[in-house]
Amino acid sequence: MPSPHPHRRLLLAIAAAALLLLPAASRDEPSPLQQAQRFYASRPPEEQPKGGHQTPPAPLTDLRAASCGACHVEIYDEWRRSTHALAWIDPQFQQEIQKSPNRWLCNNCHTPLLNQMATWTVAIDDNDVEKPHNLPNPDFDPAFRDEGITCAACHVRDGVIEGPEGHPTPAHPTRRAERFRSEALCLECHQAVREYPGKTFTCTFNTGQEWAQGPFGKAGVPCPTCHMPEVQRPWAQGAPPRPGRRHAWPGAGIYKLKDFGPPLDLLHPGLFVEATPQGDALTLTLTNRAGHHLPTGDPERFITVTTTLLDPQGNPLTTDTLRIGQRWQWWPQPKKLDDNRLPSGASRQHHVPIPPGAAAWRVTAQSHRIAPEALTYHQLDDYPASRTTQELRGDLTPPQPDPAPAP
Ligand code: HEC
Ligand code: HEC
Ligand code: HEC
Ligand code: HEC
Ligand code: HEC
Repeated sequence: MPSPHPHRRLLLAIAAAALLLLPAASRDEPSPLQQAQRFYASRPPEEQPKGGHQTPPAPLTDLRAASCGACHVEIYDEWRRSTHALAWIDPQFQQEIQKSPNRWLCNNCHTPLLNQMATWTVAIDDNDVEKPHNLPNPDFDPAFRDEGITCAACHVRDGVIEGPEGHPTPAHPTRRAERFRSEALCLECHQAVREYPGKTFTCTFNTGQEWAQGPFGKAGVPCPTCHMPEVQRPWAQGAPPRPGRRHAWPGAGIYKLKDFGPPLDLLHPGLFVEATPQGDALTLTLTNRAGHHLPTGDPERFITVTTTLLDPQGNPLTTDTLRIGQRWQWWPQPKKLDDNRLPSGASRQHHVPIPPGAAAWRVTAQSHRIAPEALTYHQLDDYPASRTTQELRGDLTPPQPDPAPAP
């Protein structure tokens, strides 16, 4: 039967062909994960998610720290109080990313697995990191994101649990990896320096280089030696005790959440202060016992050493405050204005004049994460921001009276 509408038939044929073609075309279209992996691989190392995308090592069925914690009970309890576990929920971090159009960069270290991220970046416009195109992660699990630097970010690669020794266990496949007994794993995030011309932010984590150039780096004493103290205990419930390392990562000891952080006796403070009265000045000797500059890491960190001279009744006569840290301007573009930090192993003297009438002195050293004015800007007035690390006090011997003339 001749068709009364040959054109329509032609159109129908084209439509049918297009329908056949369409599924084929969408089959070739890379998945959001593939697009994301391709994009991140095209970026410099500082802009890549540190843990990649991982699948649970069978028979494990998910990657959450809470699931690892069912067997690794003690390690889980240490980790959950560490700054690593709080790297996403950290109130300061939350305030900062809410203001930031480049937050995809932040996610790469603070939630290092692609699995943890709500969205993945698949392209940026004009090669501008503040103009990302994002696609939703179809398997997004907010509880997993909230775990910040979770166990799997350091330990899971290619469907295998990697660790310092690779003991076989029926619980999951294991493999030994060199990065655990060195600085290499730590420096994936703690060494990242990159400038963004024309932007009001920069990436300035230089702890690895400070360490490498100091006495501990030269002697090959890696970060975990100080930041993951040794302990003898079962690695998992039911396993025999073995030497391992505490997953606490103590640092300056300023907690992120009130009364919740690693025990403070795991690491001595980095700065060691001695004070000696010498003539008309109190001489302070400041020594850096840490493995890198003091402070290190975030450029907003600083240390203060406050010296007060007191009259015989204990009233302050003079107060001297020494600030040790970096100063940056952030606008119109980031620029380091000055930096009087102490390199690892270095000592520095500071002289505080003793006023007439002084009978005693007091010296207080404090570590600070962030200045009070920045706290107010971020509306973080309840955020713990400082800790006293050392307090010294002493009396000044009154000047000897002139020896009485001989009778
Ligand atoms: C290359 C990895 C990396 C990237 C990218 C990154 N961070 Fe961090 N961040 C770190 C490390 C390492 C520290 C720990 C240094 C320290 O505490 O001094 C840190 C610490 C912080 C802290 C806590 C500072 C303190 O003194 O306690 C905040 C807040 C923070 N980052 C915000 C951000 C924001 C916002 C972004 C994105 C603009 C970002 N970070 C991107 C690695 C990274
Ligand atoms: C069903 C219990 C169980 C679960 C769940 C579990 N593990 Fe294990 N894991 C073990 C046992 C048992 C060992 C062996 C301990 C030993 O050799 O003393 C072990 C060993 C390890 C090791 C040491 C590897 C080495 O170098 O020898 C690491 C690291 C590890 N697990 C990480 C994880 C992580 C991360 C998770 C979660 C993604 C996890 N485990 C989940 C039971 C478990
Ligand atoms: C995947 C990225 C990543 C890796 C790997 C990593 N860190 Fe961190 N680390 C961070 C971030 C991010 C913070 C800060 C989180 C915050 O303050 O919000 C941090 C904080 C710290 C702190 C500061 C604690 C404090 O509260 O003052 C220490 C110390 C530390 N890390 C040591 C280490 C050591 C040692 C290793 C290697 C075993 C390591 N880190 C591996 C990202 C990482
Ligand atoms: C920031 C990276 C990082 C994170 C996060 C992390 N680990 Fe580890 N883990 C290490 C390093 C480094 C070692 C090697 C310590 C050593 O030299 O013995 C280690 C060692 C281990 C070991 C061997 C036993 C020991 O104490 O040394 C087990 C088991 C383990 N981790 C499980 C876990 C579990 C479970 C979690 C989460 C609750 C976790 N790890 C989170 C870095 C990490
Ligand atoms: C010799 C021991 C030692 C070694 C090695 C060491 N650290 Fe530290 N680190 C310290 C001490 C002590 C502090 C506490 C500083 C303080 O009192 O504020 C500290 C503090 C930190 C902080 C918090 C920021 C600050 O200034 O308080 C970070 C982050 C950190 N270390 C990372 C690392 C990394 C990454 C490595 C390896 C490249 C490393 N550390 C090697 C002793 C060490």
